[in-house]
Amino acid sequence: MAFGWIDEQATARRRAGLVRTLRPRPADSPLLDLAGNDYLGLARHPEVTEAAAAAARTWGGGSTGSRLVTGTTDLHTELERELAAFCGFEAALVFSSGYAANLAAVTALAPHGSLIVSDAGNHASLIDGCRLARGTTQVVPHADADAVRKALGAHDGPAVVVSDTVFSVDGDAAPLAELARACREHGAGLVVDDAHGLGVLGDGGRGAPYAAGLAGAADVVATVTLSKSLGSQGGAVLGPARVVDHLVNTARTFIFDTGLAPAAAGAALAALRLLRREPHRAARVREAAAGLHARLTAAGLEAVRPDAAVVSVRAPSPEAAVGWAAACRAAGVAVGCFRPPSVPDGVSRLRLTARADLTREQLDRAVRVIVGVRP
Ligand SMILES: Cc1ncc(COP(=O)(O)O)c(C=O)c1O
Repeated sequence: MAFGWIDEQATARRRAGLVRTLRPRPADSPLLDLAGNDYLGLARHPEVTEAAAAAARTWGGGSTGSRLVTGTTDLHTELERELAAFCGFEAALVFSSGYAANLAAVTALAPHGSLIVSDAGNHASLIDGCRLARGTTQVVPHADADAVRKALGAHDGPAVVVSDTVFSVDGDAAPLAELARACREHGAGLVVDDAHGLGVLGDGGRGAPYAAGLAGAADVVATVTLSKSLGSQGGAVLGPARVVDHLVNTARTFIFDTGLAPAAAGAALAALRLLRREPHRAARVREAAAGLHARLTAAGLEAVRPDAAVVSVRAPSPEAAVGWAAACRAAGVAVGCFRPPSVPDGVSRLRLTARADLTREQLDRAVRVIVGVRP
């Protein structure tokens, strides 16, 4: 029977406790949210939502075409200019998602005959970029600059190193300065995904490449999402103008994809301007994450020290993680739950995200619940 094998896979998933289900989020949820990625609390900021509404009224519900045909508005161009300037890069190119931006950056910068050196903990979108690229991928152990150096040394020809700046599962940071040094020793390019760094790390939230002194370098390209700190939707690639020109001309997820909706571009632009005006939001989210981690470990839980907004707490098994997250929810706190195949090392975790607007009382309550219902 056609698709019969799907049932077998579904059964195996059920047995392993790995079934995923969709749960609509109510507009007015009573839950304390430690699961979303609205790190700076900007998704519902009136300036952001009003900018989205104004953009839709002015430009329409959709962008009407690919960026190269009818999908570029003044909002896209302004967003690109302001994002590049804020993060310290020469140019930027906006995509319909961070996922599409990562596919573009990796595929366009890893031609036939090139080597891609990819961290074992990279986000799925970077991994898929490697799979689609014409170059050959070598996966190296997590956050291991020496392994990167060794891989680059064994290759003759163009090479690019790809890494998250902050890893989405455990919230730990990549050794960016070391990676850049390894790249420079071998004439390789560095592509970093700053999805979890923008708005959180660097002076006023300018991101991890800025913090590491790498923004604007001729051999460094960063990707970002507009869907976390900027409370909107979409993605961007930041880098030298010649790289951005190359992407405009060759990146398939740019050329063959409808441009980002004007409402999302308008919302991201408003959020970026807010962040420039209120840079303390970046420090606040880092403090909230550190506070969450300190309280959880003091209570005896095993949590990874956060380098940005994500706090990862180890769970004994996939089933225990799912049960733990459900118990937190029942007690009023929404938390994320990561388990195979979304985790590279097979370890299930609760994934908590801090926000700049969390109060001390909310942090205390969250920890009381998480610790109180632990498996
Ligand atoms: C590290 C990382 N890169 C890329 C993405 C994809 O970004 P987007 O959701 O905008 O497609 C995500 C998650 O959303 C992420 O965590």
